Amino acid sequence: MSFRALVVGGTSGIGHGIALALAKRGDVQVTIAGRSVARGHEIVEQMSALSPSQTHRFVSVDAFDLQSVRKLAIQNDPKDIDILVMTQGMATIQGYTPTRDGLDQKLQLHYFSRFFLASLFAKSMKPNSRIFTVLSAGVHGKFQHLEDDFELKNTYSIKNAADAAGFYLDAGMEAIANDCPSLAVAHAGPGFVNTNWGAEMPAWIRAPLRPLQRIFGKSAEDCGETMTMALLRLPTGYSLIDENGKTIENGIKHTRAERDAIVQKTMLLLPDV
Ligand SMILES: NC(=O)c1ccc[n+]([C@@H]2O[C@H](COP(=O)([O-])OP(=O)(O)OC[C@H]3O[C@@H](n4cnc5c(N)ncnc54)[C@H](OP(=O)(O)O)[C@@H]3O)[C@@H](O)[C@H]2O)c1
Repeated sequence: MSFRALVVGGTSGIGHGIALALAKRGDVQVTIAGRSVARGHEIVEQMSALSPSQTHRFVSVDAFDLQSVRKLAIQNDPKDIDILVMTQGMATIQGYTPTRDGLDQKLQLHYFSRFFLASLFAKSMKPNSRIFTVLSAGVHGKFQHLEDDFELKNTYSIKNAADAAGFYLDAGMEAIANDCPSLAVAHAGPGFVNTNWGAEMPAWIRAPLRPLQRIFGKSAEDCGETMTMALLRLPTGYSLIDENGKTIENGIKHTRAERDAIVQKTMLLLPDV
């Protein structure tokens, strides 16, 4: 029996590590999605070398464009996907920067595109399928401007953008898990990983960051193995996962009322599912 996985963000870093770990099992057909066509095809070759009997693929997606995200759910029928992984991300010092969808770029990558794609998939996925997203489980703060500045148009800072994305992602993914109780849904915090993370940062930040990543970061392959083990043994419902692949108990920072408010405000900003 063969399973099918779609890894958005599989063209680099943690997503790449997860794609390799899934391919290595031998019973998973992996589709990776991202913008980089050259890296995508290179990684498909790596996966094919690990499991030559499976058909692995690359598909283009630009998560700065929600129509492109919708297209991904049309090209990859959710009924046929057993594992949806989302690691698309960026690290910049830019301020509020709207996409063509009118949402901040960083928030769109880390939250809105993930919630939108998960919503497009969840209702059609088979029982016991998995949705696994990697960002900041258990480590982000509680975002303080949910009511007065949901989109961060006035209170944007690097910390607020990080806190809002993690805070919203927990709420959104938990809501999806509640709506689709036969699925296993999780948000993971990967710890410090030696990846291409920060490629969008100016050189004066990247230069000292890269040696620190090499010395103190775990490899993307090791992180991918840990995350993949965790995602394969997830129970149904919603879980938070730490950098060692263990469940974080009591890690949710939002109240039920905050979760409902986040989902309601999100729906007003996203296209219909
Ligand atoms: N590395 C760490 O230490 C660390 C720690 C905590 C949290 N995280 C979080 O974990 C996630 C993955 O990080 P990483 O270290 O693997 O980063 P990475 O190596 O920079 O990979 C980022 C991935 O996101 C994709 N991406 C970026 N913009 C995109 C867009 N517009 N549309 C579609 N895909 C896009 C990239 O693909 P293309 O370039 O091909 O589009 C790439 O595959 C991020 O959310 C990051 O914030 C990382």
